[in-house]
Amino acid sequence: MLLYQSFILLAIFVVRLAAVLLPFEFIQLNATDIEKFPDIGFPSPNDTTNVHALSDCREFPGSSKWPSTEDWRRFNGSIDGALLQPLPPGAVCYKGSSYDEQKCQYLLRNATSSRFYIDDPLTVLSEWPTGSTCLPNLSPTGNSINFARNRNLRLVIKNTGHDFGGRSTGAGALSIWTHNLKEFQYTQGYSIGEYDGPVAQYAAGTESWELMNRMVDLNVTIIAPGVGTVGAVGGWLSGGGHTTVTSTFGLGSDQALSINVVTANGKFITADPYNNKDLFFALRGGAGSTFGVVTSVTAKVHPRINVTSSSLNFAFDRNPPASNVSFGNGTSALGYYVKDVETFWRGASLYYLFTKKVVEAGGIGFSYIYPLGNGSFRFTGSSSLPGKTPDQAYNFMQPLYDDLNHTGIAVRNVRAAQSFPYGSRGSGRGAVPNNRRYTSRLFPRTHWDDTKLFQQSMAAIQTAVEAGYTFHGTLNGPGSEIAGWPGKDSAVNPAWRVAVLHAMLFYKDTTGIQTALETRESEADINRYMDTWRQLTPGSGAYINEADPAEPNWQQSFFGEHYPRLLSIKKDRDPLGVFWAPTTAGSEDWEVRTADGYPHSQNGRLCRVQH
Ligand SMILES: Cc1cc2nc3c(=O)[nH]c(=O)nc-3n(C[C@H](O)[C@H](O)[C@H](O)COP(=O)(O)OP(=O)(O)OC[C@H]3O[C@@H](n4cnc5c(N)ncnc54)[C@H](O)[C@@H]3O)c2cc1C
Ligand SMILES: *[C@@H]1O[C@H](CO)[C@@H](O)[C@H](O)[C@H]1NC(C)=O
Ligand SMILES: *[C@@H]1O[C@H](CO)[C@@H](O)[C@H](O)[C@H]1NC(C)=O
Ligand SMILES: *[C@@H]1O[C@H](CO)[C@@H](O)[C@H](O)[C@H]1NC(C)=O
Ligand SMILES: *[C@@H]1O[C@H](CO)[C@@H](O)[C@H](O)[C@H]1NC(C)=O
Ligand SMILES: *[C@@H]1O[C@H](CO)[C@@H](O)[C@H](O)[C@H]1NC(C)=O
Ligand SMILES: *[C@@H]1O[C@H](CO)[C@@H](O)[C@H](O)[C@H]1NC(C)=O
Ligand SMILES: *[C@@H]1O[C@H](CO)[C@@H](O)[C@H](O)[C@H]1NC(C)=O
Ligand SMILES: *[C@@H]1O[C@H](CO)[C@@H](O)[C@H](O)[C@H]1NC(C)=O
Ligand SMILES: *[C@@H]1O[C@H](CO)[C@@H](O)[C@H](O)[C@H]1NC(C)=O
Ligand SMILES: *[C@@H]1O[C@H](CO)[C@@H](O)[C@H](O)[C@H]1NC(C)=O
Repeated sequence: MLLYQSFILLAIFVVRLAAVLLPFEFIQLNATDIEKFPDIGFPSPNDTTNVHALSDCREFPGSSKWPSTEDWRRFNGSIDGALLQPLPPGAVCYKGSSYDEQKCQYLLRNATSSRFYIDDPLTVLSEWPTGSTCLPNLSPTGNSINFARNRNLRLVIKNTGHDFGGRSTGAGALSIWTHNLKEFQYTQGYSIGEYDGPVAQYAAGTESWELMNRMVDLNVTIIAPGVGTVGAVGGWLSGGGHTTVTSTFGLGSDQALSINVVTANGKFITADPYNNKDLFFALRGGAGSTFGVVTSVTAKVHPRINVTSSSLNFAFDRNPPASNVSFGNGTSALGYYVKDVETFWRGASLYYLFTKKVVEAGGIGFSYIYPLGNGSFRFTGSSSLPGKTPDQAYNFMQPLYDDLNHTGIAVRNVRAAQSFPYGSRGSGRGAVPNNRRYTSRLFPRTHWDDTKLFQQSMAAIQTAVEAGYTFHGTLNGPGSEIAGWPGKDSAVNPAWRVAVLHAMLFYKDTTGIQTALETRESEADINRYMDTWRQLTPGSGAYINEADPAEPNWQQSFFGEHYPRLLSIKKDRDPLGVFWAPTTAGSEDWEVRTADGYPHSQNGRLCRVQH
């Protein structure tokens, strides 16, 4: 039946839509499969009173209705044996039946890139949400949505596991692992609505580096995350998704022309500007793991473009490495040292003021301010200018260096030796799992037009860094005019559209071995500084993919005025709440109950919030 509908779709739109289904998307659940194992059946048309779903909590290993071994065996059979029940990779290091010294040695010595963990069905890259234990049962795609819904199981979706908020993991959950869906299809002439040009259709497990290799082969630009291991569809695209060329071509979600998705009722459908418009709106910015499992996306393809970068680094040190510093121009083997702390902050301010021009010219800024202790600080910043030659970039940046010179920072503007194409060959290595956690705020462009607001913004950032927090500022301009058609009519956080600075503040303790109480104290402390940022930017928000799961009033902050519409789409498309992830539409109805009360941890049973 579904297959049949898809064929009809193909027949009607064959001229307009060249690419509709990737080969694996033709494999769909049918009546024969369901007859063999009714637990994977679709809901009856008006069924919102699934008896299992009436219980207060999702089933959990050990709970009375947890599927029996026989149920799991039958379910496994219904998905061609694709069910996995893996142990955490670290189990080989613990005394017990899985202990294996050689494998543990391999883990410690050889698994030094995130590749090992991305290729693991269980591990996510932030350790704290799993309580450092990781015990979910996992399975790749198939009839998993129906089985989870019919048996009242918690369902999670893991792609690469990069999510910072614990949205791709859950204790006692059935997990859909999209990682191995790698199909790719390039079509030169594609026309839909206002778009007429080349497109690429790629499957949900595609990673940025894989898409970049395609770009090199095809001599084109496809918009992908800046870091190679991040999923090019998944959470990145569904939450917005920024990259080096965002101010030129828009966000990841702005590229989508058509999205194939399996919804909460287990049905496979296509969402585009003409079909399932509600989902097409929600899947572009409304966050992952909320409205369905995306199987593939058809995205715009742009001409290949070179980017020229320019970097600026300086520090203030109360005890500078004396033998090395020549205060004539402040330079040492360790970098450029400014003469006093006031000059340091004036210099940082000049960079942020100027980088709005970089953003308006289609570029981005990328910066850090590190507190070094004892009142010393280091600034590192760069500007990336797509479409500019090294000479053009040098001339473009010169006014910043003139301003720096006038304020007493005599760093030289350096002409880049060459520009580099956006999208170079990669092999997808990355950092091993860690406990980086941070919080963020989007500062609107209007603050750059008002001297007082700009100075207040810089002062608020300075205060947080002086308190020992590391600041990470990226400057992007994904405005509606850049988003174009159909990007601008999407669920992307309205605060993103008018922002120039995506300002992040890192938690101090990154060991992840804090107690629940210590973690709450850390949250309270960092929020003292964040609250100042929030008060300075009323009505703005934060970018969900690079924010804190502890974000207060997250509905407004992550989704702005779109939240009510997203919530109504969620209730309509997923009335039983089959999909759940923290701080996504409708997630306030459920909570994870952990043994230790560790805030925002996914290491517990998912239950309805008691009213
Ligand atoms: C090292 C690193 C670099 C980063 N760089 C950037 C960057 O350059 N730009 C940027 O904007 N962000 C960046 N991020 C943030 C990134 O956008 C988020 O971590 C994002 O959630 C990753 O999505 P994923 O699918 O790869 O990861 P996952 O953790 O697997 O998934 C993230 C979320 O999406 C859901 N999901 C995944 N696949 C699907 C699917 N097919 N259908 C429905 N839901 C799905 C998951 O359930 C989860 O809720 C970076 C993160 C890290 C750790
Ligand atoms: C149902 O799908 C299975 C494979 O999943 C296939 O073997 C079978 O022929 C299909 N039956 C019908 C009626 O389409
Ligand atoms: C299902 O709902 C529709 C619309 O509310 C109604 O017209 C129809 O009779 C219902 N069908 C069943 C089987 O209850
Ligand atoms: C699922 O079935 C396959 C094929 O029979 C088997 O290899 C695999 O171990 C099974 N999975 C589980 C969790 O039992
Ligand atoms: C692991 O790394 C060591 C050196 O660090 C190397 O000698 C060894 O061959 C590696 N093993 C594997 C399986 O890659
Ligand atoms: C690659 O694309 C660019 C931009 O469209 C074009 O100028 C260039 O000639 C192309 N190179 C090759 C080798 O086709
Ligand atoms: C400058 O500092 C670097 C790094 O500490 C050191 O290697 C170098 O020898 C120093 N040079 C002089 C001239 O002191
Ligand atoms: C700060 O200075 C004191 C005294 O000079 C020193 O003991 C301490 O280690 C310094 N702290 C940092 C973080 O540099
Ligand atoms: C800074 O400005 C002064 C005065 O105009 C000039 O002499 C000097 O060369 C400049 N230095 C740099 C590094 O631009
Ligand atoms: C600073 O002065 C040194 C020595 O005179 C010179 O080699 C260096 O290039 C200068 N650095 C800058 C940034 O002007
Ligand atoms: C783009 O960058 C590459 C690599 O540096 C270079 O060979 C090429 O000439 C550049 N193309 C343009 C148009 O600047």
